[in-house]
Amino acid sequence: MRSLFPVTDQTADRGRGAADPDGEPEVLDGRAAADRGDARSAPGGGFGSDREWSLDELADWYAYPPGGEPWLRANMVSTLDGAAHHEGRSQPISSPADMRIFGTLRGLADAVVVGAETVRQEGYRPARARASFGARRTAAGQGEAPAIAVISASLDLDFSLPLFTSPLVPTLLLTGAAASTARKKAAEAAGAQVVIAGEGPGVDPARAVHALAERGLTRLLTEGGPKLLGQFVAAGVLDELCLTVAPMLTAGDAQRIGGGPAMAVPERLALASVLEEDGFLFTRYRRT
Ligand SMILES: NC(=O)c1ccc[n+]([C@@H]2O[C@H](COP(=O)([O-])OP(=O)(O)OC[C@H]3O[C@@H](n4cnc5c(N)ncnc54)[C@H](OP(=O)(O)O)[C@@H]3O)[C@@H](O)[C@H]2O)c1
Repeated sequence: MRSLFPVTDQTADRGRGAADPDGEPEVLDGRAAADRGDARSAPGGGFGSDREWSLDELADWYAYPPGGEPWLRANMVSTLDGAAHHEGRSQPISSPADMRIFGTLRGLADAVVVGAETVRQEGYRPARARASFGARRTAAGQGEAPAIAVISASLDLDFSLPLFTSPLVPTLLLTGAAASTARKKAAEAAGAQVVIAGEGPGVDPARAVHALAERGLTRLLTEGGPKLLGQFVAAGVLDELCLTVAPMLTAGDAQRIGGGPAMAVPERLALASVLEEDGFLFTRYRRT
């Protein structure tokens, strides 16, 4: 894995103006930079060199902003032609590096927010405790693993699944005040904690973020799916998008990563970083 952006550790300040008469910065690829001794931000050759990154390095790279304010990050994967899944699953368009970053982002989060359809289709299981993130989580005042927060209006979920019956930390079920009382009771009987975050049967996306923050869960990670992500975007509460671009084409009619009604005006984000491994791009964009 190597960093393609930012390029600061591969762009020699002393090259500016000296190597190029127009004063344009000389951008070296990672290996060239490492060879010249310019890559200096990380052990073993710097972020720009192509090498295996430790989980610690990835965790540093993707650290949440300090300050304790709620921060909603999304992690999604898309093919080059915009498919957010293949035959209903994201695994066929993922990669080992994508899974490492997926695990790292979970390892940093207080809660993983996910739409009920993704839970149903991907057979979501509870998040597990990962030794690699244990010390970091303890230092950050976090439990062993992030809570999974499922968003649902119908509550049409199988509450006998381990996600509800045997998580390390209780699974949260965010729903609306008008959702089925019987289904809410069934969820609670299974061990889930029901959180009301909407007046009707559904959840108000901004209220969901607020309700989680009120429980001390401010480092939020949503793993979609597209219908849920589109609502967070439309509500203006998404702070960061970690988008994996898979070097694949699928054609077909799979959803893209953001669904639902279009916004009146496209929202412009700022590029924060790009990693690359095996042709997969791991981009990160932030709200401007
Ligand atoms: N590419 C990726 O990174 C990625 C990530 C995740 C998922 N996926 C793929 O996306 C597909 C599933 O995504 P999806 O877009 O169809 O569904 P989704 O967003 O995962 O879930 C939609 C469901 O979430 C609940 N929901 C969403 N907004 C709600 C609100 N405001 N209030 C209450 N409930 C709400 C509803 O559940 P109820 O029906 O229970 O009311 C709704 O049917 C799967 O094929 C999965 O593989 C891809």
